[in-house]
Amino acid sequence: MSYSVEDIEKLVEPARVHRKVYTDEEIFDLEMERVWGRTWIFAGHASEVPNGGDYKTFNIGSQSMLMVRNRTNDDISVFYNRCTHKGAKLVGDGKGCAKAFRCPYHAWTFATDGQLLATPPTKTLETSGFAPDDPEYNLRPAAQIDIYHGFVFVNLDANAPGLKEYFGDSLTSIDNMVERSPEGELEIAGGVLRYRHDCNWKSFVENLNDNMHPMATHQSAIEACQGYAKDLPEGSEVPETVHILGPFGSSYDFFEDMSHVVFPNGHSYSGNKVSIHSAYPPVPDYVDAMESAYGKEKTKEIFSCARHNTVYYPSLTIKGAIQAIRVVRPISVNCTDIETYTFRLKGAPDEMLKRTLLYSRLINSPSSIVGADDLEVYERVQAGLHSQGHDWVSMERQKDHDQPQADGSIEATGSSELPFRNQYKYWLQLMTNTETVKIKA
Ligand SMILES: [Fe+2]
Repeated sequence: MSYSVEDIEKLVEPARVHRKVYTDEEIFDLEMERVWGRTWIFAGHASEVPNGGDYKTFNIGSQSMLMVRNRTNDDISVFYNRCTHKGAKLVGDGKGCAKAFRCPYHAWTFATDGQLLATPPTKTLETSGFAPDDPEYNLRPAAQIDIYHGFVFVNLDANAPGLKEYFGDSLTSIDNMVERSPEGELEIAGGVLRYRHDCNWKSFVENLNDNMHPMATHQSAIEACQGYAKDLPEGSEVPETVHILGPFGSSYDFFEDMSHVVFPNGHSYSGNKVSIHSAYPPVPDYVDAMESAYGKEKTKEIFSCARHNTVYYPSLTIKGAIQAIRVVRPISVNCTDIETYTFRLKGAPDEMLKRTLLYSRLINSPSSIVGADDLEVYERVQAGLHSQGHDWVSMERQKDHDQPQADGSIEATGSSELPFRNQYKYWLQLMTNTETVKIKA
């Protein structure tokens, strides 16, 4: 079928969503154009391309993109990864450092600022009637790019509002993550953990603010952790593994207290006053470095913000308190790549990075004992939603108890499904906007 605005409106009610939203290929194609083609998408972090010529590729749905640091002026650009001659993907998937980008098909060569440098053979050029200096032959940049504390975002729609207007006060989660560095700067440490999920991208994004699942989904991981802790010799120090895994076994009441805050445009976080990251033991050298940099009072304020996941709808989720992020890269209606990156807090002792790496191994890696649980349920959801037994996905919990705030955010208790309702409110707004996306600035 071909979806009209009225058809799409029928798929999303205030507190439930039709299963086709997760399973229909045509909806997925429309999402890539109307949701991912119009919102601020995370490209990468500036520290991934520290030197001129450094580049990485990534995808925004079916669009392969190329993020590169310009060799001449050090600026970061994001281009469509497509040769302007025959359309071949210019750079293979991955990252590296290049003097220039040469297409493997006819050797058309582009500078790191996107300019077309060479179109061999040069001998016959004058008589060819072809004008290689036409700017149309340069690599096409994403319509908008903006960098917030090193986080590089692009928007493929020239008409979309700016980054700060789009993310609003949800940016305070990135601010807090950056402030956790005594030098006020982050850098990505190591490579990426890329993990293919056979599920729709929205199942993953929703789960990040789903406070009511750990006690069920992660029960076996929690029990393994509790058994391990119980068998430790008396008087032994509690290992870091237990500090990290233990809070996943907190009570329903604890997760209820891990309340939600949502913002316009689908963004949200949980762990407003308390979270599973609140009780990590302090690392003395780190606390000293922070207090020297910021003073005691400000340091206390920075550490008091221990938010759980913040969702920068639709592509980025961050955990500032543990300095790890996960990035959503939709592949198809039934398939999504999730990328995990770990950060070093500049000026902090190595122990902090070790904790972040341990967290990523235990919780987010393909071989972790927590992420594997989540993957199992995402795949079961995807399989179940293809069933004709029932058409609707419920998001009703606490629907009449939203607490609107003066600053435009809305708060709710931890068991509320407000973050999902907030995501679909915005999703519907985008999906029923049939204006053509303007891809050129
Ligand atoms: Fe989970």
